[in-house]
Amino acid sequence: TEDPALAGKRAAAYRAVDEHIRDNQIVGIGSGTTIVSAVERIVERVRAENLSIVCIPTSFQAKQLILENHLPLGTLDQYPQLDIALDGADEVDADLNLIKGGGGCLTQEKIIASCAKEFIIIADDRKDSAVLGRYWNKGIPIEVVPMAYCPVQLKIQQQLGGKAVLRMAHRKAGPIVTDNGNFILDWMFSSEPTPEWIEADRKLHCIPGVLETGLFLNMAKAAYFGTADGLVTVRT
Ligand code: A5P
Repeated sequence: TEDPALAGKRAAAYRAVDEHIRDNQIVGIGSGTTIVSAVERIVERVRAENLSIVCIPTSFQAKQLILENHLPLGTLDQYPQLDIALDGADEVDADLNLIKGGGGCLTQEKIIASCAKEFIIIADDRKDSAVLGRYWNKGIPIEVVPMAYCPVQLKIQQQLGGKAVLRMAHRKAGPIVTDNGNFILDWMFSSEPTPEWIEADRKLHCIPGVLETGLFLNMAKAAYFGTADGLVTVRT
């Protein structure tokens, strides 16, 4: 089935690749459906312009995408500093704060983004939101060490309110397992009043067993939003 948001995702991805990818760069490749269009455009440009770039994946999916497209694959061991990281997001607010991790790859995505001089977001315009949680109503993804998931759930609910739900797999009895062998809790925060995100993120990180959160605060340099008509707006 065709993704109704594909045109917007593709327009944003193409524009971001055209404005940011240059010869000799080390490029972080994000995860999800939108990044597929970015890789499509990167492949076109690498061929047309004979660009020499190295791609660092944020997930199993991203690694497969790089390999299938015969792009040069690298690791953080070889390239601990990246020129740019491109990634999708589940939601982007007016200050370029993000919710990520709908696909469960938040930890590697945040590591890669933190190593890049520029972190650029590509998304369809539905994800452009004044306040986090208005569009993405599935909670804040949090990667947890499996043996700690129950106490972490309890502590999140006691310290921050709302409900932390263990993300379950489809067509498998049990929870989804991340690329790192961990579980995901989706924190359904109470939205009235909207949480103070920096403080909430700090509290979450202080709970033993929490590996990483899907709150990407003050990290993105720009977000490209594409509409179904192929128009793109850029927020910096
Ligand atoms: C993966 O864990 C997420 O952070 C993705 O980057 C995010 O869900 C965007 O995915 P789509 O491009 O498929 O919406």
